[in-house]
Amino acid sequence: MSFYISTPIYYVNDLPHIGHAYTSIIADIIARSVRLYSKETLLLTGTDEHGQKVERSALKKSMNVIDFTNKFSKIFRDLTEKVNMSNNDFIRTTEIRHHKAVLHFWDQLKKSDNIYLDKYKGWYSIRDEAFYEQSELMECGSAPTGSTVEWVEEESYFFKLSKWQQKLLAFYQENPNFIKPQFKYKEVINFVKSGLKDISISRTKFSWGIKIPDSKNHVVYVWLDALINYITAIGYPNDLEKIEKFWPIDVHVIGKDIILFHAVYWPAFLMAVGLKPPKCILVHGWWLSGGEKISKSLGNIIDPFDLIDKFGADQVRYFLIREITLGLDGNFVVENLVSRVSSDLSNKIGNLVHRVMMFLYTNNSGCIPLIDNKSVDLIYNWEILKFAEVIVKENKILLQNLDLNKILNNILLLADKANFVIAKEAPWDLLKSDINKAYKILYSLTELLRYIGILLQPFLPESSVRILDQLKIPLEDRSFKHLIRSYAIKPGIKISPPKQIFPKNNYL
Ligand code: MSP
Repeated sequence: MSFYISTPIYYVNDLPHIGHAYTSIIADIIARSVRLYSKETLLLTGTDEHGQKVERSALKKSMNVIDFTNKFSKIFRDLTEKVNMSNNDFIRTTEIRHHKAVLHFWDQLKKSDNIYLDKYKGWYSIRDEAFYEQSELMECGSAPTGSTVEWVEEESYFFKLSKWQQKLLAFYQENPNFIKPQFKYKEVINFVKSGLKDISISRTKFSWGIKIPDSKNHVVYVWLDALINYITAIGYPNDLEKIEKFWPIDVHVIGKDIILFHAVYWPAFLMAVGLKPPKCILVHGWWLSGGEKISKSLGNIIDPFDLIDKFGADQVRYFLIREITLGLDGNFVVENLVSRVSSDLSNKIGNLVHRVMMFLYTNNSGCIPLIDNKSVDLIYNWEILKFAEVIVKENKILLQNLDLNKILNNILLLADKANFVIAKEAPWDLLKSDINKAYKILYSLTELLRYIGILLQPFLPESSVRILDQLKIPLEDRSFKHLIRSYAIKPGIKISPPKQIFPKNNYL
């Protein structure tokens, strides 16, 4: 039982922005969730370092390209730590392991008669590192993405993409969940149905790339080079055991701008060398700022380091996932972050935990209410814990559908439920009139906090630990399989002194 998930590898031509953090956070939440179901999980991220765009950016900064890529790759690596990513590997396309994998892959494409030498004549966008047909250009002459294109005429190796059209269509049909969300799946099928042309997979106008042996001055097209990273990381071509274990990959998380590379070219390349296509491509939308895509070239960057310094990693993770439905675009407005954090995290969850814990601390000698086993059984039959159990089941299915928004929503419903119980039953007042009932209600609330804390772990890795630590839940009892009656909190145990889960700072 294993699970493999990746982010795209990030271009090192400039600093990371919030869009990159978003991709990484989505993949991290999925990986952390799957681990909590006790599956061996491999989460891969890294940097895409070859190609003309990176070479030009280094030149512009008058830097040696190797020093340049080292510098920027390090910043992306720092970002993985900053967002609290639990990646198992960080791959760089300039590593020797990758160089070897690409050359082997190339060789396989050649041996399987999928490559031929010809001349490329057409448009190329360095910003997108993509070739464009005349018919794809906008009236103003730019690429459909708005980037500038230049005319290129050069000898090039081509990949016989056209011959894979029918196989790709058959593959999509057999795998209706290959692309999520569904509307993206249909877009891809329509694109492939409209016909596929062979694609250029080598460049000769610059040298910053993986050189193709026995060719004059060809380097591998940066997208072919980059895609191969996903198998380099599992030991391609030599580590057959690891390849067998992790390939095909379960999920590639990507932004909508790079869907064709992952959903069309990549499966075709893989089939051509006899490997299986990925199981699923999860496509997210863009973060916009002032209605435009946040990007380095547009200069409307929101710096994730800055944002996390101000608001905290969990707060930023929460906002990015909660604010937009996966697959759709969203406008980044910092005031919305502040209000989400205060309404959902501080008011709904933070206050709930604090109220319950503080009450027990001051009125119950800092202990979980001491009730007998039968009462715990009884509480598990109350609507509120039944509801928690339903949510645990539902979230399992939602994770299979990679529906992070609904999972998070469900956890918030649990917090709503707990707040509702407090308002309705007023357990603190009840202590005077019916101490037994008050204890049971307070116990059920702490049990609900245990559920909330465990379920929140993938989303809020730091704050959830604070909840679970206060409740004194043993480290080894924090996985999703522990969300059952037999792991219910031990009545009567001493809790830790309560602290605010989401402390307010100057920015909140
Ligand atoms: N190097 C390629 C990927 C190769 S993978 C084999 C690349 N790199 S990138 O740095 O330009 O983008 C990486 C990821 O960041 C993509 O998934 C992209 O969609 C995402 N984002 C870049 N800008 C974004 C936003 N403004 N909003 C959300 N994500 C966006 O493409």
